[in-house]
Amino acid sequence: MLNNKKIAVIGAGNMGRALIGGMVNAKLTAPKNITASRRNEESLKELRKKWGIHAISDNKKAVAGADIVILAVKPQVAQAVLAEIAPAVNKGQLIISIMAGLTTATINKKLKKPCPVVRAMPNTPCLVDAGATAICAGAHATDKDLSAAEAIFKSVGKVVTLPESALDAVTGLSGSGPVYIYMVIEAMIDGGVKMGIPRAIATQLAAQTVLGAAKLVIETGKHPAILKDEVTTPGGCAINAIHILETKGLRSVLIDAIVTATNRSLELSRLYAD
Ligand SMILES: NC(=O)c1ccc[n+]([C@@H]2O[C@H](COP(=O)([O-])OP(=O)(O)OC[C@H]3O[C@@H](n4cnc5c(N)ncnc54)[C@H](OP(=O)(O)O)[C@@H]3O)[C@@H](O)[C@H]2O)c1
Repeated sequence: MLNNKKIAVIGAGNMGRALIGGMVNAKLTAPKNITASRRNEESLKELRKKWGIHAISDNKKAVAGADIVILAVKPQVAQAVLAEIAPAVNKGQLIISIMAGLTTATINKKLKKPCPVVRAMPNTPCLVDAGATAICAGAHATDKDLSAAEAIFKSVGKVVTLPESALDAVTGLSGSGPVYIYMVIEAMIDGGVKMGIPRAIATQLAAQTVLGAAKLVIETGKHPAILKDEVTTPGGCAINAIHILETKGLRSVLIDAIVTATNRSLELSRLYAD
């Protein structure tokens, strides 16, 4: 798919490794064409052993000769890493960044080059090939660049393309979203335990219920409210539970959480732009 392009993954931690696994498993490019970088020597050894890729601690060496550079370090070290690799980047290379809060304009500014940049906001379910990723094109990125990024993130889940102005909201919705659902699952488990179900079994039931409900929304294409109405018997258990969830504000709490996380992402983008 990527015509055996050479790919550098700078900061091969949790997300970087998920993308490496996705690309290798989907045979997007040969493992020998992938170079990962990070500082920990043990982890570099593991990367070589597990995926048969090159793994080095020199970011500039990793970038040199790559067609695509995936930036996957934490935003807190982005300034230093962008300054370090800037001399090694050329304007023909496609830069794909998953670093939260760094805009494509900021990346171009720090790299001091008008290279194509695609910014992505994936989420941790990418680790189990069930990720939700939004991608957007920077000022110099073409449709071809977006297609290359799409192929990479498709190897670990679903991908949508949006204008960059939506990326903070994506951070609030699906980027941070797994956290909200972990809390929902945890609370459901506690509810089950309170009513006498052993914790291990309650965990299986709660997690599978979330997975199954999500699958029904995706596979039937039905509005969630229709699916909810379909399982609500008049005078039954579910409608009583719905009444409590509405009274306690489940929906507005989740909406507020997404608004707050979006606003924080916006704040951080401004901070990282300096
Ligand atoms: N986790 C999420 O839910 C999520 C969702 C969307 C986007 N993101 C974004 O994805 C990025 C990575 O997140 P993550 O969860 O994968 O973090 P992570 O596991 O900490 O991975 C980052 C890796 O960067 C390496 N690193 C640190 N300094 C470096 C340097 N100077 N040069 C090269 N490598 C360096 C670290 O390894 P060494 O210590 O060995 O160097 C670390 O393994 C972040 O920018 C985050 O905003 C994360």
